Amino acid sequence: MGGRSSEHEVSLHSARSVIEGLDPARYDVVALELPREGPWLLSPEDAEGLDVVFPVLHGPFGEDGAVQGVLELAGVAYVGAGVTASGLCMDKDLFKSVMRDKGVPVARSVTARPGEAVTSPYGFPCVVKPARLGSSVGISVVRWEEDFGAAVELAFAHDEKILVEEFVEGAEVECSVLGNADPVASVPGEIVPLASEWYDYQAKYAEGGMELVVPPRVPADATARVQDLALAAFTASECEGMARVDFFVRPDGEVVVNELNTIPGFTATSVYAKLFEASGLPYGQLLDRLVELALERRDRRAALRY
Ligand SMILES: Nc1ncnc2c1ncn2[C@@H]1O[C@H](COP(=O)(O)OP(=O)(O)OP(=O)(O)O)[C@@H](O)[C@H]1O
Ligand SMILES: [Mg+2]
Repeated sequence: MGGRSSEHEVSLHSARSVIEGLDPARYDVVALELPREGPWLLSPEDAEGLDVVFPVLHGPFGEDGAVQGVLELAGVAYVGAGVTASGLCMDKDLFKSVMRDKGVPVARSVTARPGEAVTSPYGFPCVVKPARLGSSVGISVVRWEEDFGAAVELAFAHDEKILVEEFVEGAEVECSVLGNADPVASVPGEIVPLASEWYDYQAKYAEGGMELVVPPRVPADATARVQDLALAAFTASECEGMARVDFFVRPDGEVVVNELNTIPGFTATSVYAKLFEASGLPYGQLLDRLVELALERRDRRAALRY
């Protein structure tokens, strides 16, 4: 828990819930907090005697494959996506390339790097975001052209690569996925931001900042499409364990994937857990299943010859 990203505090909240949610009769929990100001030096004692590590880390250095790589080297089983899928899904630009290649619809976007001339090919409003971050940090919904430059500068303060996206009108719908080779999708839920006009940091984390409406108020076939595409995105990006897939459902019912989070917010009242709760899988059992999936992957891969 913790870690070097701006989502450090969010991670601590998630991790506290996970620690409380793990059945003490089944697990001895060791909490390992990584400092906000890195680096973290893995001592052999850190990994010693651990059967499974549950990285409850969001953003760079935690959700992007870095920690997963350390755990691979240490030979410790861990919850969630592996190195490649973590890196891919953390990068909204590369993730969308793979989705487009595999026929999963995503919002249109262009990618820019420092020094390049950036404009919005989609007019206004548009959305400007860092390629590899989360919790809406560094993201702007730009309604007027005169605000575009500041939005680009803000996004570049957080990453060396940014995206300018078409603004997608419609409902925001999220779907949780659980599994390895045979993943299952939860019932989807609709995000209704209350604290802000869009689902920004404030709406995500302020008390009463948002409402989760389950099932989403979209046509039944759009809900089914969300579940199908959640599984398709999970499989296409080679995720394992868990993911929360975020969507937009346009007013005409068309569904597009926004992004996929390999370590979504993980408190018992976070969207990921709530959607499985609504699907009949309570938080404690969800954690049990994730631990099982981590062990299943370790055992399966132990048979491989490298
Ligand atoms: N193309 C878009 N059109 C309309 N709204 C958008 C678009 N992209 C992002 N948003 C708004 O910004 C929010 C955050 O965007 P996004 O999910 O891409 O960022 P994030 O920081 O990775 O989020 P998370 O906390 O889920 O990891 C969305 O939930 C939505 O409200
Ligand atoms: Mg999101």
